[in-house]
Amino acid sequence: MSHLVFVETSGSGVNAIDYAKQAGHTVTYLYSPRYDFTASPHQRRLARKLADHTAEMRDVRAPEDLLAVLRAAGTRPGEVDAVLSTLAFCIPQAASLAALIGARGTPPEGVATARDKSRCRRALDEASVPSLAFSVAGSEDEALAAASRIGYPVIVKPVLGVGKGATTIAREPARIRAHFAGLTGDLEHLPAGMSAHFDERFIVEELAIGDLYSVEVASDGRSFVPLVSTIQKTGLHNPVLELGCTVPATLDDTVERELGDYAAQVCRTLGLTLGIFHVEMIRTDRGFRLTEANPRMAGGALPETVNAVADRDMFAILVDLYLGRDVPLAPLRLGGAVSHSLLAAAETTTVRDDLAPDWFDPFLDRLHSGWARLEPGNRVDAMRGNFDRFGMIRAVDTDPARAEETCAAVKADIERCLGIALAPEAGHRNPLPAGPARGV
Ligand SMILES: Nc1ncnc2c1ncn2[C@@H]1O[C@H](COP(=O)(O)OP(=O)(O)OP(=O)(O)O)[C@@H](O)[C@H]1O
Ligand SMILES: [Mg+2]
Repeated sequence: MSHLVFVETSGSGVNAIDYAKQAGHTVTYLYSPRYDFTASPHQRRLARKLADHTAEMRDVRAPEDLLAVLRAAGTRPGEVDAVLSTLAFCIPQAASLAALIGARGTPPEGVATARDKSRCRRALDEASVPSLAFSVAGSEDEALAAASRIGYPVIVKPVLGVGKGATTIAREPARIRAHFAGLTGDLEHLPAGMSAHFDERFIVEELAIGDLYSVEVASDGRSFVPLVSTIQKTGLHNPVLELGCTVPATLDDTVERELGDYAAQVCRTLGLTLGIFHVEMIRTDRGFRLTEANPRMAGGALPETVNAVADRDMFAILVDLYLGRDVPLAPLRLGGAVSHSLLAAAETTTVRDDLAPDWFDPFLDRLHSGWARLEPGNRVDAMRGNFDRFGMIRAVDTDPARAEETCAAVKADIERCLGIALAPEAGHRNPLPAGPARGV
């Protein structure tokens, strides 16, 4: 049996800790309250309960600080086989600790290249992997100059970190000026666990036009295998917001292969040689173009959405990979179609006082699964990023288009029940074909 160290976890990533324990491994879990906002109190407690050893990360600046936390948990470095994280914010620390103690982990260089959006694009350019025009800007003037070089429309994103709260699509210079003028307010809005990762740099990128897809790429350093692809639901008014996804992505075989091959090529180029990686791409008229390569598995509801119809468990594959198992050679086989939608407010508002405490139960009866944390009289913030959601609904069907329709119908009824406007989803540019998912 082996010993795994989890440096923080995403909410759904608790399933990876659970799997590791069920498989008989020892788990050390290092956590920090600054990331409490990323999961439910129940998930946060469960992670600590499942683990054999735990310790709180305080003032961790260098890998040596994290090593001290590991020791404080009662874990000797020599007994650790692998170090990983499922939480975006803690991937660099997990990779550095693994390298420091000689345990298995995603290589820090690969993590650094993927996380830094400019370094990532440079690596793709150097390897002649299709990408988008970009430039790094440290100021408004530099961003304006970059945008006129690249040509409008552009998108301005923080170079580092989960940046949706400080991301702007600009169709003209005035929007770029507004981006920089509103920055202080934007950053104040974000929890410290999120904003601490930004630096002063922004990347100005050519805006890719088309549907957004994601692929989970599994890699053991020798093979890079696209496990599963999804089509993402994005915001109608703010396309930067991700509001759910559907599996399978319902592309025809040739295009599906093109998508998987491209995502795998991106991971290989960036040096993401151990783990499962969430790669996001837009299908433009010129082909798939990377928007972001995350040096970690998808967070949020996506892994459990995949698990609802897949023949293998994403969390089990992740843990087994870190423990030296070869990457599965084939994509996951799907026994159906599945779709989930996030529930989030379009505008900041307050929920009515007379809402029944069990208001969500009748909706759950119409779904495969879901959750909602919203009580009468609660204030709900407008959605600005991944963590501003108060619920999730998930539908399973044989037909992806019908799974999406169920989500849409339940979401519309929830909207009526709550009396608040939910962040609306944009339709796909290429509507999903009707009929059972291929191979189901
Ligand atoms: N070049 C681009 N062209 C068009 N849309 C883009 C581009 N870059 C990013 N986007 C959109 O903005 C969203 C957020 O961008 P990105 O994924 O780079 O940042 P993020 O906030 O770090 O994401 P995540 O929360 O997934 O880590 C993407 O999901 C995509 O919808
Ligand atoms: Mg992203």
